[in-house]
Amino acid sequence: MRTALNVLTDELRRLKTTGTKSVSVSEASLVALRAVIRRSSAAVARSNAPAFAAAAISRTAAPVAATAPKSKTGLLPPPPKVVLPDGDKATRWAALLAMVTNDPVGLSHARPGKKVVFGAGNLEAQIMFVGEAPGAEEEIQGEPFVGPEGQLLTKMIGAMGLKRADVYIGNIMNWRPELPLSASGAQVGNRPPTEEEMRYSLPFVRAQIEIVQPAMLVALGSTAAHGLLGFGSFKTLGEVRGKWGEFGGKPLMVTYHPSYLLRPPVDNRKKRLVWEDLLKVMERAVLPISDKQRSFFLEK
Ligand code: URA
Repeated sequence: MRTALNVLTDELRRLKTTGTKSVSVSEASLVALRAVIRRSSAAVARSNAPAFAAAAISRTAAPVAATAPKSKTGLLPPPPKVVLPDGDKATRWAALLAMVTNDPVGLSHARPGKKVVFGAGNLEAQIMFVGEAPGAEEEIQGEPFVGPEGQLLTKMIGAMGLKRADVYIGNIMNWRPELPLSASGAQVGNRPPTEEEMRYSLPFVRAQIEIVQPAMLVALGSTAAHGLLGFGSFKTLGEVRGKWGEFGGKPLMVTYHPSYLLRPPVDNRKKRLVWEDLLKVMERAVLPISDKQRSFFLEK
């Protein structure tokens, strides 16, 4: 069932790359397609029980995002309107988690057996990191930043004198952007989200910020920076990195994505650039900074 959906979405994507703007679908086909999506979403929702940081939060009986009609131009519906319930942070976060993990759009894009990935961390965090989208390890575990880039991010947070549990970590997008599958049925590699995918997911990012109310945001990499600062607001990340911007009324520091630091050449020059951005974050957050921390990655 989901294989058929994947074949269909891959074909639509292919047509889009050839310049096709619309395809005509008969009413009977639409009815059949909706039924498949409904059954598929329910099946994935049942298998989509991620181990989130705030595991004690109930995931039941929460409202779902308002379902919007299909957009005429894109492959995704217009961005969802997220309405959060009243209540404390944990209640509102649990409701949002349920919206995201039950959203039929996200579920229809998650590969069979893989998870939609929602933000995780401390709901009282001062600092919220925003990455790009889940990768291979994240869509298995249902947690953001748990693969190699996540392990490096955890070290970066540690270098700041914090633990992962002190901060909140989210992504611009909640499902792994799809690429055609290899012969073995696996997705090899990642692609950055399209602007349409980011626009669809942004209301969920805003809602997480509304709930957590961090004192500041850190955008990791170009995709997160474009999503938060505005599409087309800069050409190269160098233009905006290391400077304070703003998103949703919160100060926003832009830095490189951990994947940039993992890519050869792996050297202290790149690490120092990121570290200087994080020092600015630490200063703003009034975190203690030792002389040793100030001099991290200065040697060649
Ligand atoms: N890269 C990201 O941007 N986010 C993740 O969750 C993992 C890798």
